[in-house]
Amino acid sequence: MVGRGSVSEIVQDGFTVAIDGPAAAGKGTISRAVAAHFGFAHLDTGLLYRAVGRQVLAGIDPVVAAQALSPSDLADPGSLRSAAIAEAASKVAVIPAVRAALVDFQRAFARRTGGAVLDGRDIGTVICPDAEVKLFVTASPEVRAERRLKELRAGGFDTDYDTVLADVRARDARDGGRAAAPMAAADDAVLLDTSAMAVDEAVAAAIRVVATRR
Ligand code: DC
Repeated sequence: MVGRGSVSEIVQDGFTVAIDGPAAAGKGTISRAVAAHFGFAHLDTGLLYRAVGRQVLAGIDPVVAAQALSPSDLADPGSLRSAAIAEAASKVAVIPAVRAALVDFQRAFARRTGGAVLDGRDIGTVICPDAEVKLFVTASPEVRAERRLKELRAGGFDTDYDTVLADVRARDARDGGRAAAPMAAADDAVLLDTSAMAVDEAVAAAIRVVATRR
């Protein structure tokens, strides 16, 4: 029997919300809002792959970069939002040794006391198959391209709709088609299609799902 306050009891104390889905479906906004609403910590796991992608663009080996990744590499998320880094991230994410190097950090974050929201592609399927709540957030490629275009322009990146739509489709194909932990909805995930939803509707729907399991 496990005593009160023992390490194993503390580890059991976590409450994990896994939010997966394709690029620009609204995962990030929904995850941040769910975390703020319930007082959970939030990890955008795409930033891990983006940080590795940035190192690769600087000439560093992807596996070496993943193994040496530290929290300070995630300190300036805005600098990781460019289309070039997104593409590099999607490419390093197909490498099993890169993914393996990032597993422990994500699992430890997921089980932290006080609850955690992790968003990504394989959280409900591979990283946290026992998450208390799993959501798969999606939207049509066209809607996602419109949203991503706005985000990129707001961030000062100059691009156009056709280029962004092509990037969205290429990333979907690579993220969903890879052998190692492909993007997929877990069998027990709740599907949330945000194509026709305003941001606050999508956030409210996600909060309702989490509230029913809390
Ligand atoms: O969510 P994002 O667009 O920041 O992710 C960038 C890339 O990282 C994405 O194209 C695929 C990869 N990724 C992944 O393979 N697994 C995750 N859990 C998160 C992101």
